[in-house]
Amino acid sequence: MSSSSTSSKPLQLQGAVALVTGAGRARGIGRGTVDALVAAGAARVYVAVRDTAAAAPLYAAHGDKVRVVEHDVTRLERAQALAAQLSDVNVLIHNAGLFTGATALGDEAQQRREFEVNVFGPIALTRAFAPVLARNGGGAVAILNSVASHFSFPLGASYSASKAALHSFTQALRRELAAQGTHVLGVYPGPIDTDMAEKIPMEKASPADVGRAIVAALAAREEDLYPDATGAQMYAAHRSDPKALERQLAQMA
Ligand SMILES: NC(=O)c1ccc[n+]([C@@H]2O[C@H](COP(=O)([O-])OP(=O)(O)OC[C@H]3O[C@@H](n4cnc5c(N)ncnc54)[C@H](OP(=O)(O)O)[C@@H]3O)[C@@H](O)[C@H]2O)c1
Repeated sequence: MSSSSTSSKPLQLQGAVALVTGAGRARGIGRGTVDALVAAGAARVYVAVRDTAAAAPLYAAHGDKVRVVEHDVTRLERAQALAAQLSDVNVLIHNAGLFTGATALGDEAQQRREFEVNVFGPIALTRAFAPVLARNGGGAVAILNSVASHFSFPLGASYSASKAALHSFTQALRRELAAQGTHVLGVYPGPIDTDMAEKIPMEKASPADVGRAIVAALAAREEDLYPDATGAQMYAAHRSDPKALERQLAQMA
């Protein structure tokens, strides 16, 4: 795991009120993050899911610390209403994501869907929640990017492009939200052992470890988090010789 930090005083997660999108899956990074937030002393974690029944195990694990709300992140017009409903949130975690496997010249509907879930969804929610965060002391936003934000991963060309766009927005949001005291953390995992990465034949870290790393990075106000060894190695290879990595990944295609 590697991370970078610029900042000053730790973010207080004891008593925090968080919103985590797409955290209904039993072995997802979202679930790992919710568990870690509760362990860190969060007063309440709202879990935004498309199917509220899928989140029942979260109630069993955490009782009334968890509140499940129905929200599809592609319903951009509902973002403002969600922000009005959850007016006590001070930590916003964009976890919901979609990987279709669409190639660069592949299915356009799949590509659009990936950009709607991975890019426009988090932007709309951040726009809606920015005033809420400001009213609640600034707080923080964490955004699930990917190492594929930095280079195109052969199994998911369109997914990589969407995560590259999200990385650029992450940097812009950090700059724009600094004025209101909102910290922005970009998270850049490599392959993690969830449903999304089921077909990726690489060594994978556990979503629980990633959730704990996200919460620790938020507390320390880190800006960029590479939470797993495989992803951190790939990012280091990219930084040392981007063309060599591009050629290596092309061999995998
Ligand atoms: N796993 C990896 O290797 C890896 C690596 C780098 C980055 N990431 C990123 O980490 C995040 C979590 O990934 P994961 O591996 O835990 O994925 P996952 O197990 O596939 O879970 C994705 C979650 O996003 C939700 N979701 C999808 N579309 C949604 C929508 N329109 N509205 C609301 N929720 C929606 C899904 O809900 P449903 O259950 O309703 O489908 C699911 O709970 C994603 O942003 C992903 O891109 C993952």
